[in-house]
Amino acid sequence: MSEIMGDKIELRLKAPSRCRMLYEILLKGEVIGEIELDHIAWRSGEAELKIGISNPARQRQGYGTDAVSTLLEHAFVTMNLGRIYLRVHAANEIAVRCYEKAGFKKKGRLRRCIGEDMEEEILLMAICRDQFLQGKPSKAG
Ligand SMILES: CC(C)(COP(=O)(O)OP(=O)(O)OC[C@H]1O[C@@H](n2cnc3c(N)ncnc32)[C@H](O)[C@@H]1OP(=O)(O)O)[C@@H](O)C(=O)NCCC(=O)NCCS
Repeated sequence: MSEIMGDKIELRLKAPSRCRMLYEILLKGEVIGEIELDHIAWRSGEAELKIGISNPARQRQGYGTDAVSTLLEHAFVTMNLGRIYLRVHAANEIAVRCYEKAGFKKKGRLRRCIGEDMEEEILLMAICRDQFLQGKPSKAG
Protein backbone atom coordinates (compact mmCIF):
# COMPACT_ATOMS: atom_id res chain seq x y z
CA MET A 1 0.00 0.00 0.00
CA SER A 2 1.57 3.32 -1.05
CA GLU A 3 -0.84 5.77 0.65
CA ILE A 4 -2.30 5.54 4.14
CA MET A 5 -5.02 7.87 5.40
CA GLY A 6 -4.84 9.21 8.93
CA ASP A 7 -7.45 11.36 10.69
CA LYS A 8 -5.80 14.63 9.62
CA ILE A 9 -2.78 13.64 7.54
CA GLU A 10 -1.91 11.18 4.80
CA LEU A 11 1.25 9.07 4.56
CA ARG A 12 2.74 8.56 1.09
CA LEU A 13 5.35 5.87 0.60
CA LYS A 14 8.57 7.47 -0.61
CA ALA A 15 11.31 4.87 -0.32
CA PRO A 16 10.38 1.24 0.37
CA SER A 17 13.04 -1.37 0.98
CA ARG A 18 13.16 -4.66 2.84
CA CYS A 19 14.43 -3.12 6.07
CA ARG A 20 13.06 0.41 5.83
CA MET A 21 9.74 2.06 4.92
CA LEU A 22 9.97 5.84 4.54
CA TYR A 23 6.79 7.91 4.17
CA GLU A 24 6.15 11.57 3.46
CA ILE A 25 3.59 13.17 5.77
CA LEU A 26 1.07 15.14 3.72
CA LEU A 27 -1.42 17.73 4.95
CA LYS A 28 -3.91 18.53 2.18
CA GLY A 29 -1.21 17.75 -0.40
CA GLU A 30 1.57 19.71 1.35
CA VAL A 31 4.59 17.69 2.52
CA ILE A 32 5.09 18.67 6.18
CA GLY A 33 7.56 15.99 7.24
CA GLU A 34 8.65 12.38 7.08
CA ILE A 35 8.08 9.27 9.17
CA GLU A 36 9.69 5.88 8.84
CA LEU A 37 10.00 2.36 10.10
CA ASP A 38 13.70 1.53 10.09
CA HIS A 39 15.70 -1.57 11.02
CA ILE A 40 12.68 -3.74 10.23
CA ALA A 41 13.40 -7.21 11.60
CA TRP A 42 10.79 -9.44 9.99
CA ARG A 43 11.77 -12.55 11.96
CA SER A 44 11.40 -10.96 15.41
CA GLY A 45 8.62 -8.61 14.24
CA GLU A 46 10.30 -5.41 15.41
CA ALA A 47 11.13 -2.03 13.88
CA GLU A 48 12.35 1.41 14.95
CA LEU A 49 10.12 4.45 14.37
CA LYS A 50 11.54 7.87 13.45
CA ILE A 51 9.64 11.07 12.64
CA GLY A 52 10.25 14.72 11.85
CA ILE A 53 7.72 17.46 11.08
CA SER A 54 10.12 19.60 9.06
CA ASN A 55 7.94 22.70 8.80
CA PRO A 56 8.00 24.33 12.29
CA ALA A 57 4.72 26.12 11.53
CA ARG A 58 3.07 22.70 11.34
CA GLN A 59 4.37 21.44 14.68
CA ARG A 60 2.30 21.15 17.88
CA GLN A 61 -1.02 20.84 16.06
CA GLY A 62 -1.53 17.12 16.50
CA TYR A 63 -0.12 16.10 13.10
CA GLY A 64 2.85 14.25 14.62
CA THR A 65 0.62 12.19 16.90
CA ASP A 66 -1.73 11.43 14.00
CA ALA A 67 1.20 10.34 11.79
CA VAL A 68 2.64 8.10 14.54
CA SER A 69 -0.77 6.51 15.31
CA THR A 70 -1.46 5.98 11.60
CA LEU A 71 1.90 4.28 11.01
CA LEU A 72 1.48 2.13 14.15
CA GLU A 73 -1.89 0.89 12.86
CA HIS A 74 -0.25 0.01 9.53
CA ALA A 75 2.74 -1.66 11.23
CA PHE A 76 0.64 -3.83 13.53
CA VAL A 77 -2.43 -4.58 11.41
CA THR A 78 -1.12 -4.64 7.83
CA MET A 79 2.57 -5.49 8.24
CA ASN A 80 1.83 -7.78 11.22
CA LEU A 81 4.78 -6.52 13.25
CA GLY A 82 4.71 -7.19 16.99
CA ARG A 83 6.72 -4.37 18.59
CA ILE A 84 7.78 -0.86 17.59
CA TYR A 85 10.48 1.00 19.53
CA LEU A 86 12.16 4.39 19.32
CA ARG A 87 14.87 6.54 20.81
CA VAL A 88 14.28 10.16 21.80
CA HIS A 89 16.22 12.82 23.70
CA ALA A 90 14.69 12.94 27.19
CA ALA A 91 14.74 16.75 26.96
CA ASN A 92 12.53 16.68 23.83
CA GLU A 93 9.29 17.04 25.81
CA ILE A 94 7.11 17.62 22.76
CA ALA A 95 8.30 14.42 21.10
CA VAL A 96 7.96 12.39 24.32
CA ARG A 97 4.41 13.73 24.82
CA CYS A 98 3.57 12.95 21.18
CA TYR A 99 4.81 9.35 21.54
CA GLU A 100 2.97 8.87 24.85
CA LYS A 101 -0.25 10.09 23.29
CA ALA A 102 0.21 7.48 20.54
CA GLY A 103 0.60 4.78 23.22
CA PHE A 104 4.39 4.39 23.61
CA LYS A 105 5.71 3.64 27.11
CA LYS A 106 9.10 4.56 28.53
CA LYS A 107 11.27 1.45 28.80
CA GLY A 108 14.72 2.70 29.77
CA ARG A 109 17.29 5.47 29.73
CA LEU A 110 20.78 5.71 28.26
CA ARG A 111 23.36 8.34 29.07
CA ARG A 112 25.70 9.32 26.26
CA CYS A 113 28.82 11.47 26.53
CA ILE A 114 28.63 14.46 24.20
CA GLY A 115 31.79 16.24 25.33
CA GLU A 116 33.96 16.83 28.31
CA ASP A 117 31.75 16.65 31.44
CA MET A 118 28.64 16.74 29.28
CA GLU A 119 26.04 14.02 28.89
CA GLU A 120 22.73 13.70 27.14
CA GLU A 121 19.95 11.37 28.16
CA ILE A 122 18.22 9.16 25.62
CA LEU A 123 14.85 7.60 26.39
CA LEU A 124 13.95 4.22 24.95
CA MET A 125 10.23 3.86 24.31
CA ALA A 126 8.21 0.97 22.89
CA ILE A 127 4.73 -0.32 22.18
CA CYS A 128 3.51 -3.87 21.46
CA ARG A 129 0.71 -4.82 19.11
CA ASP A 130 -1.57 -6.05 21.92
CA GLN A 131 -1.15 -2.81 23.87
CA PHE A 132 -1.88 -0.77 20.74
CA LEU A 133 -4.99 -2.76 19.81
CA GLN A 134 -6.29 -2.64 23.41
CA GLY A 135 -5.79 1.13 23.56
CA LYS A 136 -7.61 1.82 20.30
CA PRO A 137 -11.05 3.40 20.65
CA SER A 138 -13.75 1.00 19.51
CA LYS A 139 -15.35 1.95 16.19
CA ALA A 140 -18.50 -0.01 17.04
CA GLY A 141 -21.54 1.95 18.17
C1 LIG B 1 8.28 15.69 17.73
C2 LIG B 1 7.23 15.95 16.68
C3 LIG B 1 7.22 14.82 15.65
C4 LIG B 1 5.83 15.97 17.36
O1 LIG B 1 4.86 16.24 16.42
P1 LIG B 1 3.85 17.46 16.68
O2 LIG B 1 2.86 17.45 15.59
O3 LIG B 1 4.64 18.71 16.87
O4 LIG B 1 3.23 17.02 18.09
P2 LIG B 1 1.68 16.95 18.53
O5 LIG B 1 1.04 18.28 18.28
O6 LIG B 1 1.04 15.77 17.93
O7 LIG B 1 1.82 16.68 20.09
C5 LIG B 1 2.67 17.51 20.87
C6 LIG B 1 2.24 17.48 22.33
O8 LIG B 1 3.28 18.12 23.09
C7 LIG B 1 2.68 19.13 23.87
N1 LIG B 1 3.66 20.17 24.09
C8 LIG B 1 3.88 21.28 23.36
N2 LIG B 1 4.87 22.00 23.90
C9 LIG B 1 5.31 21.32 24.98
C10 LIG B 1 6.33 21.52 25.94
N3 LIG B 1 7.12 22.58 25.90
N4 LIG B 1 6.49 20.58 26.92
C11 LIG B 1 5.71 19.49 26.96
N5 LIG B 1 4.71 19.23 26.06
C12 LIG B 1 4.54 20.14 25.09
C13 LIG B 1 1.50 19.58 23.08
O9 LIG B 1 0.58 20.30 23.91
C14 LIG B 1 0.96 18.25 22.60
O10 LIG B 1 0.29 17.55 23.62
P3 LIG B 1 -1.33 17.69 23.88
O11 LIG B 1 -2.00 17.32 22.61
O12 LIG B 1 -1.60 16.75 25.00
O13 LIG B 1 -1.59 19.11 24.23
C15 LIG B 1 7.48 17.31 15.95
O14 LIG B 1 7.30 18.38 16.88
C16 LIG B 1 8.87 17.39 15.32
O15 LIG B 1 9.08 16.86 14.26
N6 LIG B 1 9.81 18.06 15.98
C17 LIG B 1 11.16 18.27 15.45
C18 LIG B 1 11.91 16.96 15.19
C19 LIG B 1 11.86 15.99 16.36
O16 LIG B 1 11.97 16.39 17.51
N7 LIG B 1 11.66 14.71 16.02
C20 LIG B 1 11.61 13.65 17.00
C21 LIG B 1 12.97 13.08 17.20
S1 LIG B 1 12.91 11.65 18.22
